[in-house]
Amino acid sequence: MSAAAQTLEVRVPDMGNFKDVAVIDVLVKPGDSIAIDTPLVTLESDKATMDVPSTAVGVVEKVHTSKGGKVNTGDLIATVRADGAQRAAPSGDGSERKAAPPAAAAAQAPAPAPAAAAPQAPARALPPAPQGAPAADTSTASPRGAVLTPRSLLGVPTSYRSDLAPIDEPGFTRAHASPSVRRFARELGVNLTQVTGHGFKDRVTHDDVKAFVKGTLATPATPAAPAGAARAPSTAVPAAPAGAQASAARAPAPAPSPSPAGPFVDPAQFGPTALEPLSRIQRISGPRLQASWTTIPHVTQFDEADITELEQLRASLKDRAQAAGVKLTPLAFIMRACVKALQQFPRFNSALAPDGANLIVRKYLHLGFAADTPNGLVVPVVRDADRKDIYELARHLAQLSEKARTGKLPPTDMQGGCFTISSLGGIGGTAFTPIINPPEVAILGVSRASMRPIYRDLTFVPRLMLPLSLSYDHRVIDGAMAARFTTWLAHALAEPRGLLEAVP
Ligand code: COA
Repeated sequence: MSAAAQTLEVRVPDMGNFKDVAVIDVLVKPGDSIAIDTPLVTLESDKATMDVPSTAVGVVEKVHTSKGGKVNTGDLIATVRADGAQRAAPSGDGSERKAAPPAAAAAQAPAPAPAAAAPQAPARALPPAPQGAPAADTSTASPRGAVLTPRSLLGVPTSYRSDLAPIDEPGFTRAHASPSVRRFARELGVNLTQVTGHGFKDRVTHDDVKAFVKGTLATPATPAAPAGAARAPSTAVPAAPAGAQASAARAPAPAPSPSPAGPFVDPAQFGPTALEPLSRIQRISGPRLQASWTTIPHVTQFDEADITELEQLRASLKDRAQAAGVKLTPLAFIMRACVKALQQFPRFNSALAPDGANLIVRKYLHLGFAADTPNGLVVPVVRDADRKDIYELARHLAQLSEKARTGKLPPTDMQGGCFTISSLGGIGGTAFTPIINPPEVAILGVSRASMRPIYRDLTFVPRLMLPLSLSYDHRVIDGAMAARFTTWLAHALAEPRGLLEAVP
């Protein structure tokens, strides 16, 4: 290759199973100078929003995609003019990097030699789907490099009932169901072979899977059967779906779908309507919320904290916080108080093991908080929250909220949470029942503080009271422990100076 001007191509890296991913932003234009890792376009998949970084150095000659378009692995994003020293970064073996290979070649690159097989983006290319993965729809890959299973993304427990048989993979693969239904079933640990289909030509539908889960949950768990013993369908699985499945093979006309919500009554029958699609985030979080709500026995403990002094303290710290470049909202104090409460009650920082017989107690503390964004609710995670003081918590809170609102939150900033705070305090309300974010076992809801007359020392005094709503998984936490947790938390918020201490 001569040292004269050379055109390099930058292509979409291997995105695993993602297809037709939306381009929501184009970040460069012809004439722009770019370096390795300069973000070129922002893509938004069903799971995440991510930037595609440049793998070349030089000047953008042409951008081959546009906002609103769709891309797939290997598609050309930009051509870049590189000359002399401004050539693409070396591949590591002494040769220059050239244009990316076609998607298929990149995807099939043998793992031990990624630089040689996928020269354009060795660090970015995703590993191919694991060999022998049960079904193509069971894993999705993040363009940032990690292969994420729906379960890891959605935090859904291995199975909604630990006493049920593991998924019969060959049967699951043969089941008459669409990829999204398969994915939904797999997220819930539903054995598709046991579900009767009531869709077109007896296809299994989302409603069939939901009805199956609901029916199963309505049936008491069966103690583990001895090895080799046949499971009694009338107790281990719900009579209706299991029986219906057996007869469905013979019966030409299946019974109407036993939808958990009952038959759908189309509102359009009664007046004009308009169809508004749910946002991507809502479409993803809906099944996840439903799974949490229907599979975890939620109890919500209500309490209130006297934050009169906290608010005085917060006002007195305003200038100092401003000088530190942060805005101290009540949430930063609440986060710090939650960290201390979680340290005091480590069971709240645990996960229930899939066998239902053990707790996995975390020795780290990443704190999630619900953020309202134009596209829906997301839960960014402040990592190592126990090592951050109020100001650092406030800084991370603001940065992550901003990223969430602008759709720039990478999947890594939404993973690994131990406990979630959902604060509606800036909006209003007196109490609510937040839904647990599995595999976490508790979530704190915070509503709007208000001045109330509190009876103290034989008289009523005006105090600023903050409503707290703690939802917890009753399999892991009993009511007494939850009440102790909120009492402790309310006390910590009522004496806020203890929240200001330096964090080692
Ligand atoms: N009581 C009274 N006022 C409160 C309050 C509370 N509990 N919590 C916050 N406020 C005030 C703040 O002090 C701020 O007022 P100020 O500007 O006069 O100081 C105002 O409300 C706005 O605060 P906000 O911008 O919301 O900051 P925050 O740090 O409290 O919250 C987020 C940040 C990201 C959590 C918040 O913006 C958000 O998105 N909340 C919605 C979460 C949600 O949707 N949960 C539902 C899940 S089902």
